Amino acid sequence: MKRQEAMQKASELLNQMTVEEKVAQMIQVPYTTVSHRGALRWAELGAGSFLHVLGDNARELQRTALKTRLGIPVIFGIDAIHGHGLNPHATIFPSQLAAACSWNPDIVRKMGEVTACEVATDGLHWTFSPVLCLGRDTRWGRVDETFGEDPMLAGELGAAIVRGYQGDDLDDDEHILACAKHYLAYGEAVGARDACDSEVTERKIREVFLPPFEKAVKAGCATIMTAYGSIDGLPLTINHRILHDILRDELGFNGFVVTDWDNARSLVTRQFVKETIEDAAVAAAQAGNDMIMTSLEYYDAMLNALKCGQADISTVDEAVLHILTIKYEMGLFDRPEKKGRSGCIGCEAHLNASLDAARSTITLLKNDGMLPLSDEIRTVAVIGPAADDIRAQYGDWTYFSHPNADKHAHPERPYVTLKEGIEAVGQRHKVQVLYAEGCSHIEQSTDDLVNACEIAKNADAIIYAVGDMIDQIGESKDRANLSLSGRQDELFEALLTLGKPICTVLIASKPLCIVKEAEGSNAVICAFNGGMFGGQAIAEAVFGELNPSGHLPISFPRHSGQVPVYYNYLPGWHNGNYCDLPASPLFAFGEGLSYTSFELSGLSCDSESLTVHLHVQNTGNRQGSTVVQIYQHDLVSSVLTPVKRLIAFERVTLEAGSGTDLVIPLHRDDFALVNTACQTVVEPGSFDILAGLSSKDEDLLRTTILL
Ligand code: NOJ
Repeated sequence: MKRQEAMQKASELLNQMTVEEKVAQMIQVPYTTVSHRGALRWAELGAGSFLHVLGDNARELQRTALKTRLGIPVIFGIDAIHGHGLNPHATIFPSQLAAACSWNPDIVRKMGEVTACEVATDGLHWTFSPVLCLGRDTRWGRVDETFGEDPMLAGELGAAIVRGYQGDDLDDDEHILACAKHYLAYGEAVGARDACDSEVTERKIREVFLPPFEKAVKAGCATIMTAYGSIDGLPLTINHRILHDILRDELGFNGFVVTDWDNARSLVTRQFVKETIEDAAVAAAQAGNDMIMTSLEYYDAMLNALKCGQADISTVDEAVLHILTIKYEMGLFDRPEKKGRSGCIGCEAHLNASLDAARSTITLLKNDGMLPLSDEIRTVAVIGPAADDIRAQYGDWTYFSHPNADKHAHPERPYVTLKEGIEAVGQRHKVQVLYAEGCSHIEQSTDDLVNACEIAKNADAIIYAVGDMIDQIGESKDRANLSLSGRQDELFEALLTLGKPICTVLIASKPLCIVKEAEGSNAVICAFNGGMFGGQAIAEAVFGELNPSGHLPISFPRHSGQVPVYYNYLPGWHNGNYCDLPASPLFAFGEGLSYTSFELSGLSCDSESLTVHLHVQNTGNRQGSTVVQIYQHDLVSSVLTPVKRLIAFERVTLEAGSGTDLVIPLHRDDFALVNTACQTVVEPGSFDILAGLSSKDEDLLRTTILL
């Protein structure tokens, strides 16, 4: 249904509702923490939404809701974060961070489409995705859920996945609502301690953290989730300026806002800014939260507050109007259950989309010629804790790998671990494969480094898979130490003494300090959490069936003490150096090699039309794909501006020996800064335009324009 009509219908319905029915619409009930009976009671009361309920249980709740006086349909939300991962039969994609290595909005949009179709087929309407926080402080436990450290890249990929989830029309059987979260600056908490205070100013917010949300809103994102934390001491939950003035008045958001888990109650119990739940309920609603996730006492509290005049019904009306408008727009009143597409959950086409995505994420960070493996390599040893650990490969937010998941749940096939991938692809190349775990992610008595070395001794080359495990990822799993845990470094050193070619593969939720491995290995592949077919994609790259084309969406620190190490820092004294470490990251934002080579030349930029011209040549001997990145640097500005800032990128695929002339349009806004009055302005002057295949100075061509 079109928006205008939906608003009209919503306001007519609102006029018929009792106060109780209105407040109930604002409630989102967690199915996993109330009994099925309890959930049914909430449906009878007219609760607006449930989360984390699947299939027939959801259908029964919906039937119950439809039998109530006004028969307002329930909207079901789920954490379908990289695929509809809480359903055991669903297609699981690479994590957001892994997918961001593709720098490919089409791949990311496709992930959204497939996920939406599977969620809709389960009768659900809404995913709490994408995360548009930035992964700048990599100690944070949720970096895997981000699209990396850069506002521009995160915004482009965020908008793409929103379009994938929502399609062109919310009233469509195969699409669902997206939810951009966690609004705002959640990833920037002090010390990367999840959900603590973010010490950022409004200027900084506008410059760094708001832009991805702005792009998501422009892409039509129907819902926004309020972050747990606080900014400069004020919980987001009660930040009217951010939730209302900036989000609605400035960005033009017209969907509804849902709190994160228990935000309302936490104002009393964790953040200590409200004495009673009534005070918290009123403040949360007045600030602009339309739906309250899980704080079920909100219902009575809000009704009490309305009765005694502490709250005005207009606040509730506004929230309910936002919710009902979306329900009408989705066509829920005519078809409360999305049809989806029968048989699509985990179907072949969807699995292929996951494999394509996994292939596009493989990022080659070092290669002295070891890869692809030559025909002389007849025996390969696959070693390491990440080689055959499907939970680690999937990462967070799946039915069996989420830290809160049933510990006994078994992963369902199909999936391919790295070991299995090397075995399968190796067979095609007539290569014998040996395997030893060697050590686990966290030190255990079963660790057997000696045996792993004995096995590796018999191989011509070693594939060493390191990373983190599910207990080291996610909410409240921030790490103070980003070194490889357990005996992973020790095992690497032992393997190194064998004098065999080694390729280190990182299967992890985020960048870890792999300095020893980066220096000592002949090749390094970053795969992050590749989903179902992560192992296959890596194996294809190892044997050269796949030419890696990923680029890092995030910088790798050399040491935990170097974090944050993002590329777009502000200039300062002494080049920001430490006396005991270089300032540069181990691997930089934008880096990613190929089995072929590319050369950029002839960079120019027309300052009238703001068009960049340059030539890209494939100078190697096989087809390949790379990402041309355009950065700008403001030479003199009223406030400090980043040493470089990504403003455009383009993926280019070229046959061996061929080249192409690129024409990349820029926009005036790409040169804007946020001044001390918090205005976004372009200050006239000179700007460097930098073009290259990574953010590293030595990889960039430069030209200057005057604006
Ligand atoms: C808390 C998490 O912060 C959020 O990302 C998630 O969507 C909700 N819980 C619902 O599970």
